Amino acid sequence: MPSSEREIHWPARRARARQIAIVEQSAREVVVGAVGDLPPGATRKFLLPAAGEPVEAFVVNVDGTLRAWVNRCRHVPLTMDWVENRFLDDRGFIVCATHGARYRPDTGECVGGPPIGRRLIGVPLRVEDGRVLATVPDEL
Ligand code: FES
Repeated sequence: MPSSEREIHWPARRARARQIAIVEQSAREVVVGAVGDLPPGATRKFLLPAAGEPVEAFVVNVDGTLRAWVNRCRHVPLTMDWVENRFLDDRGFIVCATHGARYRPDTGECVGGPPIGRRLIGVPLRVEDGRVLATVPDEL
C-alpha cells in the first residue's frame, strides 16, 4: 500500500462505537495526508464521513495551495475523474469525464461546459500537526 493511502484515516465500522466519544469533535473530519505530500498539480481522492454514506472528494495542489472539492459534477451529480484519481487537463483545469465541463481548480467555478458559472462544492481544509484535515461541507 502506498504511504499516501496509509495516512488516510478512516475509522473501521467495528471501532466506530468505541471511537464516538473520542472523535466526536472530529466526526466530520478526515485526515487526507501529510503537509507536503502532494506536489503542485497533483490530485488525491479521499472519502468524507458524510451522514448516511461516505462521499468522495479530492484534494488538488494549485501552485502550492491545497484546495479540496467534492467529486461531483454540477451538471449531473456524477464523479468527474476521467481516469481513476486524475482530474486535471494539460492546462490545469478540473475536467468532468462525462461531458467535458471545465472547472477552475482554485475556485471550483465552471468556466466551460453545461454547468458554466456553477461551482463545485468546496471542502474546508485545515492543517494540524503536519496533517491536512478535511471537513464535511455544510452543503452535504
Ligand atoms: S456530468 Fe459533468 S459535464 Fe455533464
